Parts: sequence; structure tokens; C-alpha cells
Amino acid sequence: MQPVLAFDVYGTLIDTQGVTVELERRLTDASKAGEFARRWRDKQLEYSFRHGLMGAYVPFSECTREALVFIDRALQTGLSDNDQDHLMAVYGELPAFDDVVPALDQLRDAGIRCVAFSNGTADAVSKLLTRAGVESHMDDVISADEVKRFKPDPAVYTHLRSRLETRPEQTWLLSSNPFDVIGATHAGLRSAWIRRSSDAPFDPWGIEPDMTVTDLEALAERIIR
Ligand code: 2OP
Repeated sequence: MQPVLAFDVYGTLIDTQGVTVELERRLTDASKAGEFARRWRDKQLEYSFRHGLMGAYVPFSECTREALVFIDRALQTGLSDNDQDHLMAVYGELPAFDDVVPALDQLRDAGIRCVAFSNGTADAVSKLLTRAGVESHMDDVISADEVKRFKPDPAVYTHLRSRLETRPEQTWLLSSNPFDVIGATHAGLRSAWIRRSSDAPFDPWGIEPDMTVTDLEALAERIIR
């Protein structure tokens, strides 16, 4: 049975650390840029989990903005409204990792269906992927927003399968985010962890991915083989 591949977006296709360069320009103390970017991403995810648990869904971009304001307060970086608007705009135009387009081309040449699958709204993700030159290499964009929940809620992975009309064992989630890999595996899908950084740890939950690779080209080779 031919696999169908669902790619996480932020951190997997799109490099969220791309905001660091802009933060270096905007922060009075540029040495805080790396920490700011990392904590912004962590807080964004925490807010999506909390909104989900509370049953108080907001679009993912709201989690991103709320997290930006929080980290500005936490690090006392004094960003103006204009700085915050600008950083949000940069977040919507982040670059793709270099391996993304070659890997997608290889996979689709082999007849494998590839979709983007994100907590971001379909509109935001389509715009982001279009700017990054990835949208035309994808078969579809599927968003958690369509069920007003966030990954790793099992309902989101069920929604993915219902949109794809696939069986669990042929549906693969590919993600650099361990929480997403564990969520998909828990929901009965196949999963691959894209371990983009060699020192990235995986959660010790006893739930392991079917495959671990360092990048998407390595993934394409393993899937097509
Ligand atoms: C996503 O794109 C949050 O990285 C996550 O769904």
C-alpha cells in the first residue's frame, strides 16, 4: 500500500529560527536574540496546548502573538507595537530548510502523495509555503484549524485521515517536533522524527517513531527504497 506523507510545517519544513536575525536588529541587546527566539517558540507551543486543554481555541497566529508579548515582558526587551507587528510579519515569511524542495520532488516523482499538516490555519500556511517556494511541491494543505483543535489532540490526526481518506497504517506524520511524532503514533499513525539537530532529545515516554532521520532527503531515500 502506497504511503501518504503529512509534513508538519513549523520547525520541519520552515525554519522558525529565521526570526533570530530580525531579533538581532530589533533588540537593544542583540545578544538576547537567540534566547528570545527559542523561548518565543516554546511559549507559542505551550499556549497552543493550554488553549486546547481549556477548550478555548484561537487561531495559531494568536498563540504566536501572545507568546511574543509574553517573552517581551519576561526578558524586559521593551519592543514597541511596531516592532511586534514587524516580527509577526517576519514569522509569516520564514524560509524553508534547504532539503525540503529536493526531497518533495523525489517523493512526488515516485508517485507519493505529500501534504502539509499544521496547527497553523490553512490560509496562513499556504501563504507561508508559497513565499518559501514550497506550496507548488505539495498536494494539499491540511490544518488543525478545520476542527478547531491543536496537535497533539487525537481529533486532529483523525481529521487528517478523514481528509486524506487513508488507513492509519499508510498515513505517515513527518515532524521534527517530538510532541507531534508522539501524538501521531498515539493516534495510530506511522511516524518519522526528523532529527534536524544531532543533540535534540526525544521525550522518554516509551512511544517511539517508526523511523528517525537527520533530514528530508534521507527520509525520501528510506521511503522510496
Ligand atoms: C505545526 O506546524 C506547531 O510545528 C507545528 O503544526
